[in-house]
Amino acid sequence: MAANMPVEALSAAQAEQELARLAAEIGAHDTAYYQNDAPLISDADYDALRQRNAAIEARFPALKRSDSPSERVGAAPTQAFGKIEHAVPMLSLGNAFNEEDVTDFDGRIRRFLNLEAVAELRFTSEPKIDGLSASLRYEKGVLVQGATRGDGRVGEDITANLKTLPDIPHQLPDHVPDIVEVRGEVYMSHADFAALNERQSAQGGKIFANPRNAAAGSLRQLDVAITKQRPLKFFAYTWGEMSAMPADTQSGMMACFAEWGFSVNPAFVTVDETSGLLAHWADIDAQRAALGYDIDGMVYKVDRLDYQQRLGFVSRAPRWAIAHKFPAEQATTKLNDIDIQVGRTGALTPVAKLEPITVGGVVVSNATLHNADEIARKDIRIGDNVVIQRAGDVIPQVVRVLVEKRDSQSRPYEFPSACPACGAPALREIRDDGEADVVTRCSAGLTCPAQAREGLKHFVSRAALDIEGLGQKQIDDYWELGLIRSPQDIFTLEARFADNPPEIWQYTSGAKDKIGTIKDSARKLFAAIEARKTADLDRYIFALGIRHIGETSARLLARHYMSLPAMMQAAQNMAAGDEAARSEIETLDGVGKALVNALVGFFSSPDNCAAVTALIAAGINPTPPEAVATDTAVAGKTIVFTGTLEKMTRAEAKARAEAMGAKVVGSVSAKTDILVAGPGGGSKLTKATELGVEILTEDQWIDLAAR
Ligand code: IVH
Repeated sequence: MAANMPVEALSAAQAEQELARLAAEIGAHDTAYYQNDAPLISDADYDALRQRNAAIEARFPALKRSDSPSERVGAAPTQAFGKIEHAVPMLSLGNAFNEEDVTDFDGRIRRFLNLEAVAELRFTSEPKIDGLSASLRYEKGVLVQGATRGDGRVGEDITANLKTLPDIPHQLPDHVPDIVEVRGEVYMSHADFAALNERQSAQGGKIFANPRNAAAGSLRQLDVAITKQRPLKFFAYTWGEMSAMPADTQSGMMACFAEWGFSVNPAFVTVDETSGLLAHWADIDAQRAALGYDIDGMVYKVDRLDYQQRLGFVSRAPRWAIAHKFPAEQATTKLNDIDIQVGRTGALTPVAKLEPITVGGVVVSNATLHNADEIARKDIRIGDNVVIQRAGDVIPQVVRVLVEKRDSQSRPYEFPSACPACGAPALREIRDDGEADVVTRCSAGLTCPAQAREGLKHFVSRAALDIEGLGQKQIDDYWELGLIRSPQDIFTLEARFADNPPEIWQYTSGAKDKIGTIKDSARKLFAAIEARKTADLDRYIFALGIRHIGETSARLLARHYMSLPAMMQAAQNMAAGDEAARSEIETLDGVGKALVNALVGFFSSPDNCAAVTALIAAGINPTPPEAVATDTAVAGKTIVFTGTLEKMTRAEAKARAEAMGAKVVGSVSAKTDILVAGPGGGSKLTKATELGVEILTEDQWIDLAAR
């Protein structure tokens, strides 16, 4: 029988039969182990089955089954779920940490909408659930698709998993619009979390660190049967694409969701003004522990949808909503030691090694100490008892020392004067004001292995190149092995190793298989890298890790320069004293002197120029941004606003113009196409007249913007 034959002896027909048998058998063991938490065979026997499966697949790659077990275990779920492009992006929220931030939020909105301080502006308030967001798409009332948030633009297809949640209706009432996308949060209650961990622990299964991780791990299961057994819940709170709007307020939409069969948070309220928001925040904060699920703040939204529409978005967050966070939860523990981490800019960050302790449901064993001054200011010594706190995903911090508990064993910490990674002197730069910078930096630059390695981690991070199968851990591994030591090495991996992949690739798939899967996972990685050669230009710009250039400014620069060589050339021209190039970019809204200096500084380093040139030589081909809109009256034009606008605030006018494909700059030059001048236009108006720039009144601008 084929089951007992050595792999080398199998015919193709026997191999096919064996792969079918192994898929079924391994599948049954997976169910027993993961789903019933009751394994039927030893781990060693189970591994042997998987190894045999992998060996057969390696000999007969064409016979690999679509439901092959080698695709299922260890493979990151991200590689296993299909991708779904969101019809409307899934956004994040800006944060408010205190009353003033909330008042500012209200003020910003009123200014943007040109509302008097006394004009009515209603808000909704509801808890911010600490779970994972999901989007549910209904066509003619039928649930057709469910997706994770992913990067906000593209999520994962987890339709089958979401359908197992009792809170999620499969069918909506007859009268709903043809296309409805309901969005909300998938979460797990404290009680369900504790019971799940108890069950997992009794059966030797995975223990989850907190309810959020448990919810995430349960939802993104390749085996839907496992998700079905996990007690997941869903609160609806927003929407994506809607073919028609069933209400004209946020609260009206929530009422519709409830009527359609969704759970909406019982603590949802509508209030008249910010004082109502603050009162509700305090009320829920007081009840927080008794709610039975994790929340990390309150979410406030402008109730009127026409206002939401006008307010629009900045970067990836709406102007019409904000998350008002709760203070972090605290605990006391012992500080056993202090370690130094070297970041990608060479900053030496001290990290407290703590006696592990649970804070807000999570076990904490490290906390950041920021810098030398912070350690001195808080008088933190090794051996001290310290109060630590954790806020959401933020790294835990040491709040203060319990000096009264200090014993004779505790000793002050001496901050190193050399980089622990490369031995180069670690210095505190003297700033323009003559003071020493708070940050101690390794003086070696990219020749310091820690800096180079952290730079690589930034390069592949989610907001940067985001290469599937090449995460932070792999960068560490590949660095150790000498496979990747600079960004261009990523793109030459295939040329260097396609014929002779090193053993490392067997581990990237998580399977302890033999040589067959080495080639297989190498192939997957090469394909993922190849696909990212044409990643968006703004990601490449962000990935370079230039100081002051975050995601938003990277997008601005991408739109302006449209290619890496053009950006590099412009920076070199600026370094050589080209004032025109400098003023052209400095006038762009959102770009300041510090950013331009950083850009010029970056490209005055021959090493950095060489690194970018090497990337291009390695075959990258970043995709430049598309113009936002090309079929509008102002697409491609450069516009300046001046004077007081009466019907629209400056911010709204600017957002409108940019959405219509125009570039909004702050000062008039020969390159300006249109000046929109309200009363009090002043010097800009004079200059525009001199230069013969087209000048529009506010009304003319509104007419133009409506076209
Ligand atoms: S509204 C366009 N409401 O928080 C605004 N978000 O930090 C969409 N979240 O990605 C979000 N509870 O996953 C909203 N009641 C709530 C929420 C909530 C949790 C999550 C959501 C979002 C993240 C932003």
